[in-house]
Amino acid sequence: MSLSSLLRRIDVTLGDRSYTVSIGPGQLDDTAYWRARLRGRHALVISNSTVAPLYLERIAKGLDGLQWSSFLLDDGEAHKSFANVGRALEALAHLGATRDACVIALGGGVVGDLAGFTAACWMRGIDFIQMPTTLLAMVDSSVGGKTGVNLPAGKNLIGAFHQPRAVIADTDTLTTLPDREYRAGLAEVIKGAAIGDPEFFGWLEQHADALSVRDTATLIDAIARKVVYKAGVVARDETEQGERALLNLGHTFGHALETAGNYTTLLHGEGVAVGMVLAARLSERLGLSEAADTARLQTLLERTGLPTVIPPGMQPDVLLGLMRLDKKNLAGTLRLILWRGIGQAEIVSGVDEAQVLAVLTEACPG
Ligand code: NAD
Ligand code: GLY
Repeated sequence: MSLSSLLRRIDVTLGDRSYTVSIGPGQLDDTAYWRARLRGRHALVISNSTVAPLYLERIAKGLDGLQWSSFLLDDGEAHKSFANVGRALEALAHLGATRDACVIALGGGVVGDLAGFTAACWMRGIDFIQMPTTLLAMVDSSVGGKTGVNLPAGKNLIGAFHQPRAVIADTDTLTTLPDREYRAGLAEVIKGAAIGDPEFFGWLEQHADALSVRDTATLIDAIARKVVYKAGVVARDETEQGERALLNLGHTFGHALETAGNYTTLLHGEGVAVGMVLAARLSERLGLSEAADTARLQTLLERTGLPTVIPPGMQPDVLLGLMRLDKKNLAGTLRLILWRGIGQAEIVSGVDEAQVLAVLTEACPG
């Protein structure tokens, strides 16, 4: 199969801020394509200590003749910090970056979120290009313009909506991605289908084995289908006034699990996988969905190697306490994304905490 036959281009339609997501092998080397998206003479590449040694040289080829530099984060969620935004802004100042400068985010969601927020802040907003190198970043964080960093008080508490000018997803970069990170990205693919596309869910069930072994053509189709779905949601509800919140299916449970495990027990996508199963069980309990749908979801997640049970040592009341801190909650009551079965979800306010606790108690081992 030729490289060009594998390429997918998907538009995110947002008026004069519309952009294209390019997905396929060799996309980082298509320098003529992405260089044409840079308007000025200055570029700052933000990456990290793991990704830069693997891929920065390929970007450098496309930046020939520009004034550019790189700013590298240490690896890990802990470095998605306000202090590092300050350092990245200093790097832009040092470069003499003008209003037409561009920030290039080369890495996973941590790099993309911080780089996008840096671009949103410099001179009240300059261009940035997302070059995602994890599956999670390709199917989720690089698309839609949510940018931001963490505070000690919580994840993603500082941020801005700032759309990229282009997303360049080179699927060759996924060959170096560790297996666990790859599977965590698959959770975000399955989530999209579970929320909004029953036909895609069925397709994922048929192709779960090919996805598990990273078959290139199947993987590109899966990424493209998830991006088409997300692009539609973002175009209809850019700033999360309604429908976009559905993308958080499993996240309130998942964030509580991530936090309870000190962000070391579960990766984000793994927390979302367990969280989706818990949200499905709660939905069943509330009469919104059927046990057969929960079973299909759990089976698909397990076939792709994702966890679906709460790790040992976590306490139901502690998890419920953490869920009360979720950003979606309003007026001191739980506001959750619940499930109506394969392909449908809804936002429910004032969810009965006793029911949530019952689900958590049933699911906590020991
Ligand atoms: P990550 O950025 O930490 O990357 C995961 C790991 O893979 C890191 O160790 C990284 O160095 C490594 N890595 C990245 N690309 C690699 C490659 N090609 N080869 C080898 N190693 C590679 O994690 P992530 O899962 O990509 O993103 C998680 C972050 O994304 C979180 O901060 C989360 O809050 C954020 N997020 C944002 C959005 C959004 O809409 N903005 C959506 C979902 C998640
Ligand atoms: N990852 C959720 C969103 O982009 O809205």
